[in-house]
Amino acid sequence: MDWGMKNRISRIIRPDTGRTVMLAVDHGYFLGPTSGLEEPGKTVAPLLEYADTLMLTRGVLRACVDAGTNVPIVLRVSGGTSVLKDDLSNEGLTVSMNDALRLNVSGVALSIFVGSENERQTLLSMADLVDEAQECGMPVLAVTAVGKEMVRDSRYLGLACRISAELGAHIVKTYYCDDFEKVVRNCPVPIVIAGGKKIPEKEALELAANAIKRGAVGVDMGRNIFQSDHPVPMIKAVREVVHNDMDAATAYDMFTTLANETVKAGA
Ligand code: R5P
Repeated sequence: MDWGMKNRISRIIRPDTGRTVMLAVDHGYFLGPTSGLEEPGKTVAPLLEYADTLMLTRGVLRACVDAGTNVPIVLRVSGGTSVLKDDLSNEGLTVSMNDALRLNVSGVALSIFVGSENERQTLLSMADLVDEAQECGMPVLAVTAVGKEMVRDSRYLGLACRISAELGAHIVKTYYCDDFEKVVRNCPVPIVIAGGKKIPEKEALELAANAIKRGAVGVDMGRNIFQSDHPVPMIKAVREVVHNDMDAATAYDMFTTLANETVKAGA
């Protein structure tokens, strides 16, 4: 692997812990003004210092994030669909590699839709993206999107993760599931998990802790952080789970303590 590729990967996955807390705020690319992200700049600002990586679209990056930031960026480069249409799998590439380089990002991300109508199109897009990315030492993060008709089990997610890795993705983002260790074992590149829909903080911390225990290198978490009533305490607790193997119960105690302090300070 060339130096540039290694360097960029080490900006996404911290070399000292081998783990990463990615903050995902790319939801607007098909959902529009998602709850909690109505003003992405305001949402992101207080969280930036606790994120190892920020995952977002180029529009929000350019318009809402200070170019002086040191936070490594993973840029979403797929899209072309909206929540108004039934078939979300009909994605294509939305950003050129040149623009990704101009934006000085540390990685590019796209969704693949294994088992969907557009499986072939999204997988071939990924292979093309990997070809271009290899040329400039740019890691590709494959997001294993799951259609409504798919079951989020280890068989399906294992298949999607393995195909992503086989076609050249450098990192794979998927969902946590039963037998998650099997998904990790069968995927030769690092896996991070998405948080999914907002759930109580205690459960989200359990999800993160279970994923880490079973081999994920981190989280690429969005709604369970920015839709929390206390996003900063939440991302701090997630960091402890990811980087310091804190157990979920202790992390939740930490979250509640920090959240109470925030409430008192604001009162
Ligand atoms: C999908 O909209 C994006 O790829 C999100 O970045 C991903 O789903 C992670 O965000 P969340 O933790 O909210 O699921």
